[in-house]
Amino acid sequence: MENIASIEAIIEQRLELPTPPNVVFRLLEVIQDEERSFKEIGDIISKDPSLTAKMMKVANSSIFGFSGKISTIESALAVLGINVIRNIALSFVIIDGVKAPSSGVFDIEYFWKRAITSAVAGEILATHIRFHSVDTFLCSLLKDIGVLVMYKQLAEEYKQVLLLKAYAGSRSFPVERELIGFDHGELGGLMLKQWGLPESIYLPIFHHHDDVPSSSPHGTLIGILNVADMLSALYHGAADSRTLDDVHALLNSRFGMDKLTANRMIDSLADKTAEILNYFDIDPGEMKPLSHLLQEANYELGNQAMSYENLVCELKQSQEESRQFISKLLEDNKALRKLAYRDELTGLYNHRFFQREIEKELERAKRYNHPLCLIFFDIDFFKDINDTHGHLVGDVVLRTVSQKLSSCMRSCDIFVRYGGDEFAIIMPETDYSGFEVLAERLRHSVEKLLIPISGKTIALTISIGGAFFNGKNDSVSRFSMLSVADQAIYQSKKSGRNTVTIKYVD
Ligand SMILES: [Fe+2]
Repeated sequence: MENIASIEAIIEQRLELPTPPNVVFRLLEVIQDEERSFKEIGDIISKDPSLTAKMMKVANSSIFGFSGKISTIESALAVLGINVIRNIALSFVIIDGVKAPSSGVFDIEYFWKRAITSAVAGEILATHIRFHSVDTFLCSLLKDIGVLVMYKQLAEEYKQVLLLKAYAGSRSFPVERELIGFDHGELGGLMLKQWGLPESIYLPIFHHHDDVPSSSPHGTLIGILNVADMLSALYHGAADSRTLDDVHALLNSRFGMDKLTANRMIDSLADKTAEILNYFDIDPGEMKPLSHLLQEANYELGNQAMSYENLVCELKQSQEESRQFISKLLEDNKALRKLAYRDELTGLYNHRFFQREIEKELERAKRYNHPLCLIFFDIDFFKDINDTHGHLVGDVVLRTVSQKLSSCMRSCDIFVRYGGDEFAIIMPETDYSGFEVLAERLRHSVEKLLIPISGKTIALTISIGGAFFNGKNDSVSRFSMLSVADQAIYQSKKSGRNTVTIKYVD
């Protein structure tokens, strides 16, 4: 609880938690008093015919196993119990009552689709492993509700979180902890605590991104939440989704489930989720069961295997041909390995290579207390060049700038194209004054550059943001480096572009 109290203090300083929708408040108030609850909870729900109708559908759905036998709230209460009915009611009223963040482009329908798929996955998994808790569905549904609050109340910071998450190819919660000081699980858990939801719901949500062993209280439910999230990500193609192998490995290590049982369970998720999404008035779209997806993948593999067999036959025809083929294959593989880390247009290293190298260089800088510099830069008004002259000219500009600046680099510098007109340079072993000189030289080189296009010349400038780390602080992470460089480039843009800004990372 001490951990919760300290996070609570940080959150209270940063933002005001939303108050619950009115019905949530009334439902929870009535539940407190066991004497009154049975009749009054029925009364509260029955006053809202649309809520009653939706709840009857869920109570009769395949996930609770009472197909079509429950016809009134009273019988639902008798068959499923007060806590199950309370949680189904809370699911509907919270989804209805917690509105989408007004700023930005938050896709609220996608958010709830992911959440409901998690909820169904959590419930199915709990049934498989015979984990009996009435809170599994609601916990799985609401575990990420903190994301909505962060997006709404800390909009600018959350944009940075999303940016860094994309840069680093990471999941959200470590970036949230780094930049905001707490993660969405902690925020959502505390909000539900303040709303009066029981400990059995808010604690697993609070800890769902912590490394909690199965043996600890709520450990099994937290494990279920993790698997449920992975399954939902698999079905909805979330950016940070992990592979089916990861899901199998987790199901096996955490719940001792074999692959075949796991696949059957995952397969059943598609139809059951589509059914529940409809009750929540959310379009399920196309949710193909896992077996269909695997069938499609096997078909592709079959095609590849056939072409491999042909190759083997051809190889047998001639030993000489075979040798030539193998040596060509080796060369191709070498070229492919190189291509995997190269940007096709400019020939510079790509974003994937950057992520690998920044981590390595940062560790080295910290180990030997040596400096490390990071530059972000982009071409000023590049969009105007594309709009005025077309994308082909834009490509020429990107290639020319890359070639020109490559000639200014030392052999140990790592020059990367992030994407679009954004570039990064990792510069190991460079002191602050050397860094300033080099950054200024890059800016000046581009300023002098005149690119001939159709008898005219295009002049360019770049805005540079630099992050300087002296190597003497073990707590500095790649997120800190990226964040500082990003703030510096933002400042260069704000001060009129064609400028260098360097900031210390500490
Ligand atoms: Fe989460």
